[in-house]
Amino acid sequence: MSDNAFVRLINVTKQFGDVTAVNNLNLEIAKGECFSMLGPSGCGKTTTLRMVAGFEDLTDGEVWVGDKLFSCPKKHHYTPPENRNFGMVFQAFAVWPHMNVYDNVAFPLQLRKLSKSEIESRVREALTATNLWQDKDISPADLSGGGKQRVALARALAINPDVMLLDEPLSSLDPHLREEMRFEIKDLQNKYGFSVIYVTHDQSEAMALSDRILVMKLGVVQQIDKPLDVYNNPKNKFVFSFIGVSSYTDVEWRDGKAFVTGSDKPLPATLEIPERMRGEKVFNLASRPTEIKFTDAMDVNGVEGAVLRKAFLGEIIDYLVRIGNQEVRVQIGRRDIGPENGEKCFIKFQRPFWYKQDE
Ligand SMILES: Nc1ncnc2c1ncn2[C@@H]1O[C@H](COP(=O)(O)OP(=O)(O)O)[C@@H](O)[C@H]1O
Ligand SMILES: [Mg+2]
Repeated sequence: MSDNAFVRLINVTKQFGDVTAVNNLNLEIAKGECFSMLGPSGCGKTTTLRMVAGFEDLTDGEVWVGDKLFSCPKKHHYTPPENRNFGMVFQAFAVWPHMNVYDNVAFPLQLRKLSKSEIESRVREALTATNLWQDKDISPADLSGGGKQRVALARALAINPDVMLLDEPLSSLDPHLREEMRFEIKDLQNKYGFSVIYVTHDQSEAMALSDRILVMKLGVVQQIDKPLDVYNNPKNKFVFSFIGVSSYTDVEWRDGKAFVTGSDKPLPATLEIPERMRGEKVFNLASRPTEIKFTDAMDVNGVEGAVLRKAFLGEIIDYLVRIGNQEVRVQIGRRDIGPENGEKCFIKFQRPFWYKQDE
């Protein structure tokens, strides 16, 4: 255990019948850290969050916060959610329409039997921090989607949580508002210092918010790293594809040289292909479209191709370039110079990754 671990999951497994929703998950989250769990639908994110919150029991493993054990089926130990000082916000707007905004935030504090003056000061602070004080007397039903989610945030905030559990809290909002509210959540965290566990399937959201990201696939952790490291050093093909735009090109060996399949010109020797691809019949050159540049025939790093399609997408120009029988996606800035439809061209792969066909 590292010195600053606060939330700790040890060998956590959750089985629903034959489905292993979460498989032997080990995780440490520091106090004040913003930690995201990222992965496609069904990979076990919500189940993990619900186990941390105490809404779901564990099949095996332990959940700790600080020096308190919260869940451990082996020891028949289980602390109910109301005794785990967590704030929670979910995707669905879980606000009570029959209560006004003020009472939505005050109600959980009343359940905790706090004094009237303590409740008043906490509600005022939470509603002010979320820009809702002027709306305190209306029903959340009369607020926009963003407003309703702010009420849910204020309610979570008012309990002074140690950890804020957020399950796709912004995914019902339109894209513009979603971006804005990311920063609001981040500001609240900076101000109040709680840890955040943020569940999302949206990689840009995870990138923007997090100190570290966990990428999960079918209940199994693929990588836990800082956002930029997940992006620049993906542990495997799944992570590479899930984070950012990816493009795969089939490559094969002929007489000890690597060729894009269907091409009669070998790839430049300057592309360093890892030894572990040696035994492969066909393998993948993995690239990000923005990390490929157009170059000219004189460049020893250039690979010859032809422009199949050129599309102007506003900020970027998106190309499909045919090499051999493969199609490679290339993106350049709208002010950059590039070839036209149908033209012959040369492209240069920068920082490609290499993967086996079936990994
Ligand atoms: N209550 C449940 N009963 C049976 N299977 C469940 C239940 N909750 C989740 N699952 C299964 O567990 C897996 C993980 O689900 P979930 O944690 O909701 O994924 P995510 O939040 O990443 O989309 C899925 O295969 C899902 O069908
Ligand atoms: Mg989910």
